[in-house]
Amino acid sequence: MNATRDDAERKQVTVLFADVSGSMDLAEGQDPEEWRKIMQRFFAILADAVTKFEGTVDKFTGDGIMAVFGAPVAHEDHARRAGYAALQMLDDVAGYAAELRRGPGLNFSTRIGINSGEVVAGAIGQGSDSEYTAIGHTVGLAQRMEALAEPGKAYVTEHTAELAGGFLDLSDLGEFEIKGASRPIRVFELAGVGSARSRLDLSRERGFSSFVGRAEEMAALEGALDAAKEGRGGAVGLVAEPGVGKSRLCHELAQRCREQGLEVFEAQAQAHGTSTPFMPVLQMLRAFFGIGEREPAQLAREKIAGRALLLDPGFAEDLPLMFDFLGVPDPERPLAQLSAEARQRALARIVCRLVDAPSRRKTLVLVLEDLHWIDEGSNVLLAELVASIEGTNTLAVLNFRPEYSPPWSGAPSYREISLEPLAGADTRELLRDLAGADPSLDGLDEPIHERTQGNPFFIEEIVRELAETGHLEGERGAYRLARPIEDTGVPVTVQAVLAARIDRLDPAAKQLLQVASVVGKEIGVRALGMTAGLERDRIDPVLCELIEAGFLFEAELYPERVLAFRHPLTREVAYGTQLAESRAATHAAAARATIELEPDRLDELAALIAEHMEAGGERLEAARWSARAAHWAGHSRPQDALRLWRNVTGLAAGLEENEETIGLGVLSRMMQLDYAWRLGMESGEAAALAAEATAIATRVGDLRSLALLKLLTSARPGVAYRASEWIEAAEEAIRLADESGDLDLRVAIRGAGCYAQMCAGDLDLVERAAEEIIELGGGDAGVGAGIVIGCPPAWALMARSIALKERDRLAEAERAADDSLRLAAEFGDPETESWSRGNKSTVMAERGELEAALALARRNCELTDQLGDVFSRSLALNSLGYVQIATGEAEAALATIELADRVYREAMNAGGEGEAWRGTLRARALLGAGRVEEALAQAEESTHIARERGMNWQLPSALLVLAQARRAAGSTGVEQALDEATAICERLDHGLTLRKIDVERATLSAA
Ligand SMILES: Nc1ncnc2c1ncn2[C@@H]1O[C@H](COP(=O)(O)OP(=O)(O)O)[C@@H](O)[C@H]1O
Ligand SMILES: [Mg+2]
Repeated sequence: MNATRDDAERKQVTVLFADVSGSMDLAEGQDPEEWRKIMQRFFAILADAVTKFEGTVDKFTGDGIMAVFGAPVAHEDHARRAGYAALQMLDDVAGYAAELRRGPGLNFSTRIGINSGEVVAGAIGQGSDSEYTAIGHTVGLAQRMEALAEPGKAYVTEHTAELAGGFLDLSDLGEFEIKGASRPIRVFELAGVGSARSRLDLSRERGFSSFVGRAEEMAALEGALDAAKEGRGGAVGLVAEPGVGKSRLCHELAQRCREQGLEVFEAQAQAHGTSTPFMPVLQMLRAFFGIGEREPAQLAREKIAGRALLLDPGFAEDLPLMFDFLGVPDPERPLAQLSAEARQRALARIVCRLVDAPSRRKTLVLVLEDLHWIDEGSNVLLAELVASIEGTNTLAVLNFRPEYSPPWSGAPSYREISLEPLAGADTRELLRDLAGADPSLDGLDEPIHERTQGNPFFIEEIVRELAETGHLEGERGAYRLARPIEDTGVPVTVQAVLAARIDRLDPAAKQLLQVASVVGKEIGVRALGMTAGLERDRIDPVLCELIEAGFLFEAELYPERVLAFRHPLTREVAYGTQLAESRAATHAAAARATIELEPDRLDELAALIAEHMEAGGERLEAARWSARAAHWAGHSRPQDALRLWRNVTGLAAGLEENEETIGLGVLSRMMQLDYAWRLGMESGEAAALAAEATAIATRVGDLRSLALLKLLTSARPGVAYRASEWIEAAEEAIRLADESGDLDLRVAIRGAGCYAQMCAGDLDLVERAAEEIIELGGGDAGVGAGIVIGCPPAWALMARSIALKERDRLAEAERAADDSLRLAAEFGDPETESWSRGNKSTVMAERGELEAALALARRNCELTDQLGDVFSRSLALNSLGYVQIATGEAEAALATIELADRVYREAMNAGGEGEAWRGTLRARALLGAGRVEEALAQAEESTHIARERGMNWQLPSALLVLAQARRAAGSTGVEQALDEATAICERLDHGLTLRKIDVERATLSAA
């Protein structure tokens, strides 16, 4: 890895400031030497409290200290630790102050300020002078808390309260305007230790979610309990990552036991207690003897002696040791001197005998939690307990995270269960319980399950976070979605847990995990190695560690080894801990690695490479790769293409001007416009894009782009109001294209011209334009490809087919349709294929092959939906409606056509050139459904539109249905409409419609 890499990191920590209040006044009356001694003692008290809870003294501030909890090594309970340290400081300083008051008569007190949040932690300064420190707004706010605090008090911010509330007793002082903070901050006074001991206690206080799943695990535990009842006691270990539900399962078991009248004793190791010996054992024994927190010593001794002797009179000689161990030594019967080991062994023996006292018939259940934090002494003691539990009436249920491995794992009476995350159905149930069943929440299950991977703690915290950030409104269990959920980040509580896990890794593993988080959700091992600058043999063992620790898993082994993050939130946290600058460098390296390793898949990977380049700050590269990705997405994924072209425009805007960047700026805007007529775009946005692109193209004299812009602004589909104007604009665009001499452009633009002629109904000109496209292409299907349409010659063949169909040469029309389809498919132009398939289905319908036509039209709708563009979708629906009318399914046809109209109008805010056509079809369907009045009104409107705009392709059909509707309604003007239609059909050789008019006339005269 880069040698000059900055090792600093972003970290979630808690910062504590403590000082002597009024030290200047105090110092004045003192001999400096004496004063120094006092201050040193004072510093020692503060520093001891910090060290006790594994914080770091960051610096001495002259009259106090700054301490950090959670860095350099993260602790998931950094806020609690800071709170406990503060309580210890207040206590110890108060003791020392009393001493000073009695002695030199000084009035001494301390003030403490605490805040939690993100800092940048790392070395500051040069070479050997550099020091590890934390920097950031979080630090400043902690210092302000200290300044705000009254003498003898500790103040904490809302940020710390959010993490440690419940574990600490906090009294709300209200909101304060704090200098340097953009909004008022809620401040709390630290009043003492809170009632919660574990996260589960907190959940209990908030109200448990209903218990879901876990049927199998519960059955296993109950099996072990039954065995214990029969004198076949044992120990069961539950293993799972944090938040998966170890404590909750234990709690549910304990509840059931208590309901059966069994005795249950619980204890847990604490993250900040690893250095305090025997904490969990003491807790367990206190529970066993029923000793409360502040029990008077004499009373405590009576309880211990009473219970122990009742179980086994032999305990009499052990009482002094038991008293001493439980912190209530008997002054009358002092304990004989024992070595530490002897004492520990004696204790272990006592505990085992308590569990297996001969007089005890009743089943005993011990629950010991979070053994991954257990101290060495307790660990040894517990091992002995497990070894001796066989044959007793005791069930010990233990739980821990995967990083801990119990020394007794081979013991015959021990069994281990690993707890899996919740299944999808359980997640859904839990979410229903937490959030409710409001319809606005539909669709939330999937993304939340995906993000949390079924970890109930993460699920609960994310729901809380969503409620706190206003995405969810209402009460717990009955929320409504108030705002769509974009990226909400990782809740701080979850972040604390995950960051601490990441920090426990070896530095090499941690660094590789960070690189992996930049590379992606799924990580090819070669790309990872290259990005990290590590050789194969160096990377493998580190990956092993990451897989074993449960951060990554092998998603694929063949053809390449691909790893993936087990948890998306872990990836986000690993990503977020890095400094922006080094992360950017890693992104750029990841892009380069991909380019080098995947030369054959560059099109496919272009979007990914572009993202890395952009995040790596390489804008030009990002623009180039985005453009490549956009080309590749093309008409088969128009939404993606549009998004990518937008991105290119944005990127190009920030780049130094040169031929390439100007070109990208113009091209990307034109391509957006090209997708606008397929997908719809706000008219203001489209106009702005056109104006910007035209300005640039004019400035640099880019004829080619000007031709295309002419097309995209005034000759593209959807823009025309009158056919004559449309054709004129198209001819102008063709002229510009010819002037530019660019063959591709000349071919591509002729496609648009041909479409304008088609709508104007001039079949001769349609066929001539189609010929021209095919001729200019000279047999090369790729000429003009992708500029406006994917494969212009395939398009031309379709145009020919349409003209032939209108001339009533149906067999030839079908052949041309087949040629078009084949070419479009061969060339890989799904869009032209879609249009062509729609056309073919209508040709088949006219030939009377109704069933096949219907099947093809339906299939076409399905395939076209996958393209995701509105223009094509509306066309496909139109063809289906056409066929449905032919098969006599009037109602279905009506629904189809109305949908076609709606999707088009919603996206485009206009009816487009197909307006009269859809209207005509709708009138036919209405007539077929017997809704004569409506049919008549629709036919009038469509006729009007087609006539006004000169859309002669549709006008004869509109007139024909108008005549039919008039006849059905018994109104006048039937002949008149038919005559007008006949005249157009004869002039333009619309044989198909002419034939239908003749049928209508025959019906008329027969009547
Ligand atoms: N099966 C479950 N059904 C409902 N909620 C659960 C379930 N398992 C865990 N939870 C909730 O998820 C949170 C985390 O569970 P917890 O038991 O504290 O995890 P762990 O001890 O493994 O870290 C708790 O609030 C708990 O109530
Ligand atoms: Mg737990």
